[in-house]
Amino acid sequence: MNNARNDVIISLMKTRIEKIDKLHIDEKIMKRAGKVLRKGGLVAFPTETVYGLGANALDEAAAKKTYAAKGRPSDNPLIVHIADVEKLDTIALQVSEKARKVMEVFWPGPLTLIFEKTDRVPFGTTGGLRTVAVRMPADEIALALIRAGGGFVSAPSANTSGRPSPTSAEHVADDLNGKIDMILDGGSVDIGVESSILDMTVEPPMILRPGAITKEMLEEVIGEVTIDQTLISEDSGQAPKAPGMKYRHYAPKAQLMIVEGETGEVVKAIKQIAYEQTRLGYRVGIIATNETVNSYTAGVVKNIGTRSNEHSIAKNLYKVLREFDEEDVSYIYSEVFDEAGIGNAIMNRLEKAAGHHTIQAQEITKLQKYRRILFVSNSDNCRGPMAAELLRHQSLTQEYEIGSRGMVVLFPEPANQKAEAIMRSQQMTLETHEATAFDEKDLDDETLVLTFEETQKWKIVSEYEHVKNVYTLSEYIEDERVVHSSPGEPLVVYGENFELLKELIGKLAEKLNEEAKHV
Ligand code: TXA
Ligand code: MG
Repeated sequence: MNNARNDVIISLMKTRIEKIDKLHIDEKIMKRAGKVLRKGGLVAFPTETVYGLGANALDEAAAKKTYAAKGRPSDNPLIVHIADVEKLDTIALQVSEKARKVMEVFWPGPLTLIFEKTDRVPFGTTGGLRTVAVRMPADEIALALIRAGGGFVSAPSANTSGRPSPTSAEHVADDLNGKIDMILDGGSVDIGVESSILDMTVEPPMILRPGAITKEMLEEVIGEVTIDQTLISEDSGQAPKAPGMKYRHYAPKAQLMIVEGETGEVVKAIKQIAYEQTRLGYRVGIIATNETVNSYTAGVVKNIGTRSNEHSIAKNLYKVLREFDEEDVSYIYSEVFDEAGIGNAIMNRLEKAAGHHTIQAQEITKLQKYRRILFVSNSDNCRGPMAAELLRHQSLTQEYEIGSRGMVVLFPEPANQKAEAIMRSQQMTLETHEATAFDEKDLDDETLVLTFEETQKWKIVSEYEHVKNVYTLSEYIEDERVVHSSPGEPLVVYGENFELLKELIGKLAEKLNEEAKHV
């Protein structure tokens, strides 16, 4: 009953949203925000990692409010943010030499350290633990707020529990508007994934959550550092050392799946799945990169950043996951990213968002034999482009890049006018067609080459090495009829050829669909 009344009060609150310019911080606003914190209120603020939901860390009642606003289980401890190293001793005991060293190098910055707590820190803030997590953020607005608020600000990420962490003030407002006192809008964050957490109460120190400060970076400063095993093997059967890591955080509404493998293979697999699911009537989401985004032909595709700078991917990760919640997709397929550097944190969050659902790209790509079909005629201006266009209009269970080539093409001539007239009468067109000469690179393992006559097939077989998957159309579909070249013939002959071709292409589609079932 009590709880229910609390909820009503919280949801009626007016949330003030204040824009802050990092380079010219408005002292008046900071003073007001500080006062809200000192009085036990909640202020969301930017940090370099994600937005935090600030409260006075030494006030047990304020911690309770934080949990209520986020809808977060109260056994999940909060990080205490400080702005001056001298404040550390008020809240932490047994701060070792190693700890002082890492603080000197990485503070202010995206690194949280775990220490034994002092009595000044209420158990409400630490979720009942005898230890406290402490971080000094690098963001100027965060530092000013912490100072204005009394020096100790507890701040979980400012999202509703279970949603992706907020990387902009808009994300915070989407989740917490009406539930907290104030949001300081400092624009988009720099890093985009939460701080690294390093437990300094054990020897050697242990990473409980990967972030922008990596194991390698820490080891350079203090020597050996271990990693919580539960972060590495999903089924270790043990609870993670950072209580928050056990929840299925960062979960988008649609089921997310990570497609693993070499990038080229991953793209093929996602294309294949997206094509098939779109055919079945599902809307699917795809998380792609600068390098791959143009390869996709189906699905709702979002570009998360560039593989050449994984920091761009970290920065966009939560934004993209949030965007997909607005998209009404049933599944989201994400390319896998390199685990080096910040990639380790990216993959950790992505795997959690996916509930550890992964797909091996090769398990998918091995189910499709051909990805390209080329029709080869002499001059590539009549039968070939017609066949290609007819096949594109067939209902195919797998996606193919469909094209045509000619054995003797001297310049990129348009399609034959009579062929175009016939196609138009059938609501199709060869308008954009340009004749293209057959080339060695048209032969690869994934391309099915179909010639119209034996002569073209024979020419390819005798001229090139490693010839695979080259057939005459008749041979491939086991039908003796051949569509002959008809230059100079009257339109009726073109019409007859079209009818025959249409029938043969229908048989080809059937054969391709049949074969697709048996790979
Ligand atoms: O980058 C960040 O760290 C952001 C910004 C706002 O500073 N904050 C953040 O807080 O990510 P939160 O509450 O979303 O995540 C805190 C994590 C949880 O997984 C929690 O279990 C762990 O820190 N944690 C807090 N105190 C701990 C303690 N005493 N021992 C072990 N883990 C602790
Ligand atoms: Mg969080």
